[in-house]
Amino acid sequence: MKVAVTGAKGMLGRALSARLSALGHQTLPLDLPEHDLLDFPAVQAYLQAAAPDFIYNCAAFTNVDLCETEYASARAVNALAVGNLAGSARTLQIPLLQISTDYVFSGMADKPYLPETPPAPLSAYGRTKAEGELLAQTTDKYFIVRTAWLYGQHGKNFVETIIKLAGTQPVLKVVNDQRGAPTLVDDLVAVLLLFLDCREYGIYHFTNSGETTWYGFAQEFLRLLHIETKLEPCATAEFPRPARRPAYSVLDLTKTRSLFKIAVPDWRDAIARYCQNRKG
Ligand SMILES: NC(=O)c1ccc[n+]([C@@H]2O[C@H](COP(=O)([O-])OP(=O)(O)OC[C@H]3O[C@@H](n4cnc5c(N)ncnc54)[C@H](OP(=O)(O)O)[C@@H]3O)[C@@H](O)[C@H]2O)c1
Repeated sequence: MKVAVTGAKGMLGRALSARLSALGHQTLPLDLPEHDLLDFPAVQAYLQAAAPDFIYNCAAFTNVDLCETEYASARAVNALAVGNLAGSARTLQIPLLQISTDYVFSGMADKPYLPETPPAPLSAYGRTKAEGELLAQTTDKYFIVRTAWLYGQHGKNFVETIIKLAGTQPVLKVVNDQRGAPTLVDDLVAVLLLFLDCREYGIYHFTNSGETTWYGFAQEFLRLLHIETKLEPCATAEFPRPARRPAYSVLDLTKTRSLFKIAVPDWRDAIARYCQNRKG
């Protein structure tokens, strides 16, 4: 298949493009500076001429705190550009798969969020992504896949940030009152590929299974990597940030599990594989 991947230089986009190419698909990468998703006519013209069979939108303004002060720029990428891609998908009559986030939810729940739970974002980032979800739905053949707490080989992520800090500090404080599901990019990519042959359009969730806190997650990978830095659990309030984060953002995976009849790897299994393969 001919597959367009936006954000192809980002953490998820790179891993997805590599897998698509390895499987023999023709990948059309779109990322800055060659393709700016904010140049709506250019993107439309490019997609019209290239005529892909499927679009994955992995591009986003992902700096959650910066979204608070740069709302217009964040909204342009995370929402308005999605509407433009949906327009292309509609014209070409091809599916658009929009990547979204657990941050569309408030985090006030005490059980995993279902795909049909109405978004109620706390942050500017969450609001722009929730608007992006609505705009993705302006074409009939849409998939919205919400994920969370991503880490992988390419790009800035929590795992690599903590490992780097652990090398310079004897004690690290890590937040212990946000619960979620850390998700290995490679496991997400494996599921994203299944949507290529799927016609059950709609909203889906995919993360690794189980749940933990950032502190619990950090404890696990430092243990696996035999890094002896001491970790101290702390409250979110101790590290005030511009954007509010959901306190509980575990996503219910039942719909995705039953659609593809897959077993979802536990987050502990995923981080163990990541640590084993990590070049460090
Ligand atoms: N990372 C997480 O923990 C997480 C959690 C839940 C959901 N998600 C979602 O997962 C998706 C992928 O995230 P990621 O972590 O892979 O993000 P990422 O590494 O920041 O990649 C996003 C890519 O999009 C590009 N981009 C930004 N603006 C663009 C524009 N105007 N035109 C073309 N490309 C543009 C970025 O380029 P620049 O770097 O040059 O700006 C970057 O290469 C996003 O939809 C994100 O919201 C991520």
